[in-house]
Amino acid sequence: MEIRIFDTPEEAGKAAADIIVETVVADPAAVLGLATGATPLPVYREMIRRYEKGDVTFSKTVTFNLDEYSSLPRKAESSYYTFMWSNLFSRIDIDGDNVHILDGCAPDKAAECARFDGMIDEAGGVDVQLLGIGTNGHIGFNEPADEFTGGTFEVKLSQSTRDSNIKYFADGNMPEYALTMGIGTIMKAKKILLMATGENKAKAIYAAVRGEVTPRCPASVLQNHPDAVFLLDKSAAKLLED
Ligand code: PGA
Repeated sequence: MEIRIFDTPEEAGKAAADIIVETVVADPAAVLGLATGATPLPVYREMIRRYEKGDVTFSKTVTFNLDEYSSLPRKAESSYYTFMWSNLFSRIDIDGDNVHILDGCAPDKAAECARFDGMIDEAGGVDVQLLGIGTNGHIGFNEPADEFTGGTFEVKLSQSTRDSNIKYFADGNMPEYALTMGIGTIMKAKKILLMATGENKAKAIYAAVRGEVTPRCPASVLQNHPDAVFLLDKSAAKLLED
């Protein structure tokens, strides 16, 4: 894995956006794997800026989002569908038919997950996958576990994830389950950009980069990916400084 350390979250986000924009300029029909949360917001701001400047068009770009809460209607304020449309898709020229977000309300969750993995394969696989990391080392919603997961599946969220994300649910009513790309799905991406900012991510980053490869720290699996780049601000990289 390649580790790049920046002074600020904005600079790390800009570096991630540069790689994404370069990919789309080289192949306008590129397939992007996208993430939600506070961390990728600077990436999306920079992608919008570059689009508005005329550097790039996303009109043929295909996207797959990492995860979505189970049983939360798409139009709910805290859904990842709402997050993606408000923070990125409504601000660029993407074709809505090319946007793929898991349907957390699908009656048959296993079929929805299989359909999603099938669509990624049909699209030719993900060219660049953007990831955040949880304070517990999760990627997507792959929580610390005894074994690495495979394809997209429904997961019970850990207490640590619930504690981190409850703030996004004004009524305190946060789903207990989510649909997420599995580790197997994520690892198939041709290039992976993991972004982490803030001191509360420093321990997870240390474990992912310097620790053993173990499903107890799901992000550590990226040590085995042929093209994984960690884009960190100084605070998240704090424990890596020798
Ligand atoms: P955050 O979430 O960007 O909101 O910190 C990251 C994650 O949980 O993967």
